[in-house]
Amino acid sequence: MGSSLWTLCLILASLASAAISATPRRPVAVPFGRNYVPTWAFDHIKYFNGGSDIQLLLDKYTGTGFQSKGSYLFGHFSMDIKMVPDDSAGTVTAFYLSSQNSEHDEIDFEFLGNRTGQPYILQTNVFTGGKGDREQRIFLWFDPTKAFHRYSVLWNLYQIVFFVDNIPIRVFKNSKDLGVKFPFDQPMKIYNSLWNADDWATRGGLEKTNWSKAPFLASYKGFHIDGCEASVNAKFCNTQGKRWWDQPEFRDLDAAQWRRLRWVRRKYTIYNYCNDRQRFPQRAPECSRNRD
Ligand SMILES: *[C@@H]1O[C@H](CO)[C@@H](O)[C@H](O)[C@H]1NC(C)=O
Ligand SMILES: *[C@@H]1O[C@H](CO)[C@@H](O)[C@H](O)[C@H]1NC(C)=O
Repeated sequence: MGSSLWTLCLILASLASAAISATPRRPVAVPFGRNYVPTWAFDHIKYFNGGSDIQLLLDKYTGTGFQSKGSYLFGHFSMDIKMVPDDSAGTVTAFYLSSQNSEHDEIDFEFLGNRTGQPYILQTNVFTGGKGDREQRIFLWFDPTKAFHRYSVLWNLYQIVFFVDNIPIRVFKNSKDLGVKFPFDQPMKIYNSLWNADDWATRGGLEKTNWSKAPFLASYKGFHIDGCEASVNAKFCNTQGKRWWDQPEFRDLDAAQWRRLRWVRRKYTIYNYCNDRQRFPQRAPECSRNRD
């Protein structure tokens, strides 16, 4: 085969595999200011490269955060984050989606800092109709302070999937038929924040924030949002059912994704509410659906 024909075959083969694997669309990096605004302590956010990279700063006076301008019903949201390096004990860096009402829905990534050289913990949670208590905790298979890694959420009517560098680390299937509320009609905003939580974050609160190491800095870029924008009150989205994340291949994980999720559960899971019989003598109904 001539080399250009060979190249063409490779391209076709990779297109075919892209078509069958249900990896979310490649995120598009947009400048911070297009989709986001600071939430509080505006002077604790630092901007680089014309706003395509930012840093959040935590000192003993305050942490800070930012939020999306819009509210979204369904979609794919991701953020490239480099966690606070070295001694980050007591700090929490968060990336989450939340609706703004009292019986709120929420999809959480929380990164719990640690002493220099000790591993971060990634805690995830899902609130539906104001009810949470669905914590899962994992160690990561890399040091999240050394480089940017991509953390993302896919949310459609069928499932919510948490990804780390495109590897599913958690799935929350729609278990409405089992009596579990599923977020479907309350638009959510995207939030990021860095704050002090040394009353619980590191070794259950035993390790306190060492303020002589302040300021603590978490770095962000790739402010990707591909969602159905709705007003906070509108309980519909006129594109619902028509966007890429609604298509059949995104309604469940594929075999390769289930395999990778099992690998995360087997090798990196520290805590899973599904298996905490002391706290929940009766296992939550969604756990079996999620194969937890
Ligand atoms: C911090 O490191 C300690 C000791 O290795 C470990 O037990 C703990 O799970 C780590 N992470 C957090 C957030 O406490
Ligand atoms: C806090 O940091 C200072 C300066 O690096 C160090 O001397 C001190 O031992 C640290 N304290 C703790 C509790 O780690």
